[in-house]
Amino acid sequence: MSRKIIIDTDPGQDDAVAILLALASAELDVLALTAVAGNVPLPLTERNARQIVELASKPTPVYAGCDAPLHRILVTAEHVHGKTGLDGIPLPDPTHPLQARHAVDYLIDTLRAHPPGTITLCPLGPLTNIATAFQRAPDIIPRVAEIVLMGGGCFEGGNITPAAEFNIYVDPEAADIVFKSGVSLVVMPLDVTHKALTSRAWIEEMRALGTPVGHAVASWTDFFERFDTAKYGSEGAPLHDPCVIAYLIDPSLFTGRHINVEIETQSPLTLGMTVADWWRVTDREPNAMFMGGVDREGFYRLLTERLGRL
Ligand code: BDR
Ligand code: CA
Repeated sequence: MSRKIIIDTDPGQDDAVAILLALASAELDVLALTAVAGNVPLPLTERNARQIVELASKPTPVYAGCDAPLHRILVTAEHVHGKTGLDGIPLPDPTHPLQARHAVDYLIDTLRAHPPGTITLCPLGPLTNIATAFQRAPDIIPRVAEIVLMGGGCFEGGNITPAAEFNIYVDPEAADIVFKSGVSLVVMPLDVTHKALTSRAWIEEMRALGTPVGHAVASWTDFFERFDTAKYGSEGAPLHDPCVIAYLIDPSLFTGRHINVEIETQSPLTLGMTVADWWRVTDREPNAMFMGGVDREGFYRLLTERLGRL
C-alpha cells in the first residue's frame, strides 16, 4: 500500500526535483501540492507547482496557501533560483488549473476526512501553511502521521544568515509552532543536504534520459549549480528538498539522531536558528529525528532510476 503524502512547497528547482521524485514513486500517493510563499512569491510558486505536475504528466491537485509569513515580511531567494523560481529552462504556461480552495482549508479538511495517522506532510519550504492550519484547527495535529521536512542546520550553520537556513529563517514563528506541535518530525537539515551534492556525471545522466523531465532536471541543476559552486566552493550543488522524498522511499539512505530541536525567534543575530541538541547536553525532550548523514551514491542512484520512469 502506498503512503499518502501532501507536499507543501515553494518551487524552487530542488523542490521541483523532489516533486518529480515523489510523482515517479509507487510507494507514495501524492494527494496534492500545497504552495506557499518562499523562494519566490506565491503567484509564482503555485504556478511553478502546476508546471511541474504538467511536465510529469501527473495531474495532481495544486492549492495556493499563505502569501506571507505569520508575522514577518517575506524574504525570497531569487538570487539562488532566478526570477521565476524555476529558471534554467522555459516551460509552457500551465493549463493545469489551480484549485479554488485555500491550501490551509484543504489541509484541515483533508486531515479531518482521513483516518488519523494516515497522512504524512512533506514541507519543502517555509512552514507558514502548516502552522496556520495547526493554529486554526488544533484537532488536526494528532491526526498527522508524521512530518518529514527540509529545514535547519546544526554543524553546517546557515545558508541565508550565518545561523539560519532559508526555510526556517523566512518564518521562524511558524517553524516554532511546528517543532513544538508534538507531531513526529523528521528533519533534513543542511548537514545532510550539503552532502547530497550533484555531479557533472549525474547531470549528464539526466540529460541522456532524453525525456522532457530529464532535460528539465539537467537544465535546472545547471542553473543553480552556478550559484552554489561559487558560494560553497564545492564541485556540485546541494539537492536539498529531494532528501525528504528519498527518505520516505528508502529511509536506510539516511542516518541521524532523535534529539531536541528548538527554533530561535527572538535574537536578531541568530533568528531562525535550529538549536539542535546533537550532543544531548540538555534534558529537553527529544522532538525530532534530526538527520546528519546520507548515502550520496544511493541517493543519486534512486533519483536516476525514478526520474527515468517519467
Ligand atoms: C531550502 O531553501 C530553498 O531555497 C530550497 O528550495 C530549499 O527548500 C534550502 O535552504
Ligand atoms: Ca524549497
